[in-house]
Amino acid sequence: MTSRLAVVTGASSGIGAATARHLAREGFEVVCAARRADRIEALAAEIGGRAVVCDVTSAESVAGLAAAVGPRLDVLVNNAGGAFGLSPVAEADADEWRRMYDVNVLGLMQVTKALLPALVASGAGVIVNVGSTAGRIAYEGGAGYTAAKHGTKVVTETLRLELFDQPVRVCEVAPGMVRTDEFALTRFGGDQARADAVYAGVAEPLVADDVADAITWVATRPPHVNIDELVIKPRAQAAAHKVHRVSGD
Ligand SMILES: NC(=O)c1ccc[n+]([C@@H]2O[C@H](COP(=O)([O-])OP(=O)(O)OC[C@H]3O[C@@H](n4cnc5c(N)ncnc54)[C@H](OP(=O)(O)O)[C@@H]3O)[C@@H](O)[C@H]2O)c1
Repeated sequence: MTSRLAVVTGASSGIGAATARHLAREGFEVVCAARRADRIEALAAEIGGRAVVCDVTSAESVAGLAAAVGPRLDVLVNNAGGAFGLSPVAEADADEWRRMYDVNVLGLMQVTKALLPALVASGAGVIVNVGSTAGRIAYEGGAGYTAAKHGTKVVTETLRLELFDQPVRVCEVAPGMVRTDEFALTRFGGDQARADAVYAGVAEPLVADDVADAITWVATRPPHVNIDELVIKPRAQAAAHKVHRVSGD
């Protein structure tokens, strides 16, 4: 029997890398896609998968990913994404907003569009989009990112409606606070102290493995079961603004 094939975008770090490992453990051959070749090549070697260098914001690069995947695909995890900056709307940087829309919404659309025929051809495809609780709420300074992640959610819902008669499920996993090595560091332009402050005093934030576990569960339900959305937060985060922090951390 040929193994089932999965594509994970943004597989070079954090949630994407953890998801590639989890799916490989479940028996999938995993195509690890991201821009940093060295990272995904090491990961692919570790899990017996394939590395495809891909910038999801480039149509040409995404066409290369589709060519590498071939005619049949079982699981697509649209995980590539991120936040840039935390400025109030009054001081917003239009370029940062564009980059966030580009990767979290347009990138997801381009990859989905390119791989949809292969997902349909599998007869039981699954798309898992990595959204965020930022796609459900608003917070000060977050408008560029929350607008983009609301976009991820709405594109997911629209696609589910459009594919209602096709053998493809469309799902979203929306995490709250996840302590990954790079997410906050990227958001704050490499400022480690600002990145660390995001998680200060939170004894047990989610880690990449927790979200990878949820994504893998969503992706491995029987073909007639569609998990529309799964919101996952650490126990310490009752709501975006209500986080239990202990001093001395
Ligand atoms: N950490 C959190 O608290 C949190 C919470 C909710 C949702 N999320 C979402 O979860 C996803 C993963 O986040 P993470 O915490 O694992 O952050 P991360 O470690 O910064 O991962 C982001 C990944 O996206 C890839 N990426 C960025 N731009 C790309 C592009 N143009 N083309 C292809 N790949 C691209 C990066 O790889 P390259 O740089 O190598 O391309 C990297 O592998 C994101 O969609 C994020 O919005 C994170």
